Amino acid sequence: MKISVVGCGYLGAVHAAAMAELGHDVVGIDVDTAKIELLASGRAPFFEPGLPEILTSARDSGRLRFTTDMSEARGSSVHFIAVGTPQKKGEYAADLTYVNSAVDALIPFLTDGDLVVGKSTVPVGTAADLAVRVSSGAPGAMLAWNPEFLREGFAVKDTISPDRLVYGVSSDHDGAVAKEMLDEVYAKALSENTPLVVTDYATAELVKVSANAFLATKISFINAMAEIAEVAGADVTQLADAIGYDARIGRRFLNAGVGFGGGCLPKDIRAFSARAEELGRGESVAFLKEVDAINLRRRQRVVDMVRESLGGEVYQKKVAVLGLAFKPDSDDVRDSPALDVAVNLHGLGADVVAMDPQAIENSKRLHPQLLFTESVEAALRHADAVVIVTEWKEFRELDPVAVKALVKSPVIIDGRNCLDAIAWREAGWTYRGMGRP
Ligand code: UGA
Repeated sequence: MKISVVGCGYLGAVHAAAMAELGHDVVGIDVDTAKIELLASGRAPFFEPGLPEILTSARDSGRLRFTTDMSEARGSSVHFIAVGTPQKKGEYAADLTYVNSAVDALIPFLTDGDLVVGKSTVPVGTAADLAVRVSSGAPGAMLAWNPEFLREGFAVKDTISPDRLVYGVSSDHDGAVAKEMLDEVYAKALSENTPLVVTDYATAELVKVSANAFLATKISFINAMAEIAEVAGADVTQLADAIGYDARIGRRFLNAGVGFGGGCLPKDIRAFSARAEELGRGESVAFLKEVDAINLRRRQRVVDMVRESLGGEVYQKKVAVLGLAFKPDSDDVRDSPALDVAVNLHGLGADVVAMDPQAIENSKRLHPQLLFTESVEAALRHADAVVIVTEWKEFRELDPVAVKALVKSPVIIDGRNCLDAIAWREAGWTYRGMGRP
């Protein structure tokens, strides 16, 4: 199929490359010239495992191009909207400026029978409004909502082989046509029996935000248990294992630690609360405010643990902060708990040296006042305390015996519960995990 993808950020760039990889003829469109130049040369503007490979192979196949010129959407029959919906400044609600302007800019180039497909995460009710906008601006064009569930770090796999597909379509003939077109787009995944839910716009929009709300709640639940475990002398990691054996609960997303961050979970739960309030049902998701509060407390808890471990004062103490990205295998520092911890410790007067395998450049742009190093050894050398806040493989695999020689005092705060506590203690470290005795 001929496909355009409007918005080439984490979502759109991966989607465009993956669609080309699946054999479609794709044009990726974005207003950011620098990003488009990078993508056009086969390079990814952010770190995502597997993306450079499919960008290069798709470009070499001649099926993928990138442009800043919206008129090049003309001729495609399916147009994905993959622009960002960040949190509004000073408010919890989602900012729909980019979605609205992308659709408005696309409308002049739509022809009869074209399908506009929303992928961005939007407040429920947005698709219905956009459907009116599309059909009045481009009579004969249709709209569907097809939320995306990809995880950063696994984005290529999640896009090519999603665990489910959701189509929100209108209930009339156009909806049936839209479904057929989306079936063609996702023919490969459907042939592999990927579950498909065909529904209305509102349900499709809500599926996306409720999935993220559930995941955030699961993480905050286990972090709440960590808070209790901390005062009761229990071990939250064993608790998670034990409750996770119950298939109804499941062990995934029950890792207690410094909490969730990134460009999705934090802003999505806030936007959901804001939208529920607009709909007069704020109380239905009031618990999400608690989920957010528990999550934010964990960042402070890590800072407090560093302070306690250093005798109550971090001022002029060298603290090695291992991790800046919001999770491993990503260079994304949007709302990153790790970066927050580094900034807070710096603000308390600690001599912070931060290391991350991929996220230094992005962190530097936001917080040039921090000191960064490319090497774990340099970060650890003469450190009074070490704190792990992103569980990169190279941190998980540190040898406690070998690295002990580098530090001034062997104190480690495991903000992700990703280390073998026994091995670190046996090597002579003072080890402290989250919600662990
Ligand atoms: C999340 C969802 O998992 C995706 O399904 C969704 O498509 C995406 O948001 C989106 O809306 O675009 P992502 O932001 O890539 O994906 O990150 P997650 O893997 O969900 O992790 C989010 C945060 O939770 C990270 O900071 C991670 O460290 C933290 N986390 C995760 C925990 O603290 N504990 C856990 O057990 C799991």
